[in-house]
Amino acid sequence: YRKTIVSARDVLRKNDRGGYTVPTDGLYPFQWNWDASFTALGWSTWKPERAWAELHMLFKGQWDDGMIPSIVFHQYDDRYFPGPDTWQSPKVDPPTTGITQPPVVASCARYILQVSQHGDEDVHLRGLRNAYTLFHPILRYHRWFYKARDHKKMGRVSIHHPWESGMDNSPSWDEALEHVSTDNLPNYQRKDLMHVDADERPTQTQYDRFMSLVFSFRDVNYDYAQCAQVSQFQVADTCVNALLLKANKDLAWICAKLISHHKRLSLSLEELEALKSAQRELRELIDLSSRGMDSLWNDELGMYSCYDERMDKLINVPTSSAFLALYARHPDRVRARQLADKLAHWLDQVKYGVPSYDPESPMFDSVRYWRGPVWLVVNWMIAEGLEAYEFFELAERVRRDSRALIKEAGSYEYFDPMTGEGCGGNCFSWTSAIQLFWFP
Ligand code: DGY
Repeated sequence: YRKTIVSARDVLRKNDRGGYTVPTDGLYPFQWNWDASFTALGWSTWKPERAWAELHMLFKGQWDDGMIPSIVFHQYDDRYFPGPDTWQSPKVDPPTTGITQPPVVASCARYILQVSQHGDEDVHLRGLRNAYTLFHPILRYHRWFYKARDHKKMGRVSIHHPWESGMDNSPSWDEALEHVSTDNLPNYQRKDLMHVDADERPTQTQYDRFMSLVFSFRDVNYDYAQCAQVSQFQVADTCVNALLLKANKDLAWICAKLISHHKRLSLSLEELEALKSAQRELRELIDLSSRGMDSLWNDELGMYSCYDERMDKLINVPTSSAFLALYARHPDRVRARQLADKLAHWLDQVKYGVPSYDPESPMFDSVRYWRGPVWLVVNWMIAEGLEAYEFFELAERVRRDSRALIKEAGSYEYFDPMTGEGCGGNCFSWTSAIQLFWFP
């Protein structure tokens, strides 16, 4: 097993571009928001300073309004489309996209700090200092979601683009995407198909809609208030909402640690007061997002699902995002049991869990990105949630499958749940990172 640890570290070293890590060479040659956060977990297992550096680099891309964009273009690379010259976002140094991704940075910072508590005194103190530097910028990021995306002020934030979910071609978006017009779409050339088989990527129809949305945001210079008016796609995603709730809880955890170590950190009285006030604010955000999550419970499916804000209805599509509510420690015992039973049933239909989409659905596609395949970062979060609710056997099954996939297929972007075959990009940072963090 030592050998696979060494090769997982090699993947991160190979994808290191000096302070930030690309998800994989070629297909994704920049720093991605949620990839970077998960990748930091991997670095933290043997180079804690490098882990914090990854997060600081990500925050170089933070916008004045608080948003952390989905991609930070630290160095130019023409192997990817759409690059900075297509986005033309107002953030220039470094340039970024004009949309966000699931907010997992607070949670990853929490786990990195938590692990550092059990090590060297010095590593822990440096961890606290790093966490303090990141604390207020992360809080500003969380506030941005409620300011820019909680359109109905009910604690349910929406995404304006499928890319913001990180689950680009999830079947949850199919119906909502039909309302996105491609009438004024200029000519463009996608580049992802130069790196990966077309069967494993979003279709051309989907891609046209992705680009139409980008151009509509560019037309209003990515102003968040105007984007809320013009976006033809507004969906409250179960994944983003569950992860934002968890992120608020984890930021509150960090806040409590910083307060209790304020002397070691030599914080001024003013700085301490600011933390205490942030602690109160975070409690309110947790309550708000908990109410938002409640509104995503779908009785018909017996699980959480996404909500189409424009059509004002729940989206009846069962995806693995629902199980992330467990990771957020949100459901009561009854709903948690319902989710666990559903997951157990899904696992009975596949060789390796967790499929990203209900394997009994006629549209299930075991190799097409988020329409069936297994993703290791999602598995880790689901297993973590299952353990928190003491579903130990089920958590163990997810863990066992995840370990087997890495061992048998390698560090792929995602995996076929029916055969265990690796798909998408290879030497993939977040897969190796989760391996290092989860199976030390
Ligand atoms: C892509 O280009 O496929 C990415 O997922 C967008 O973030």
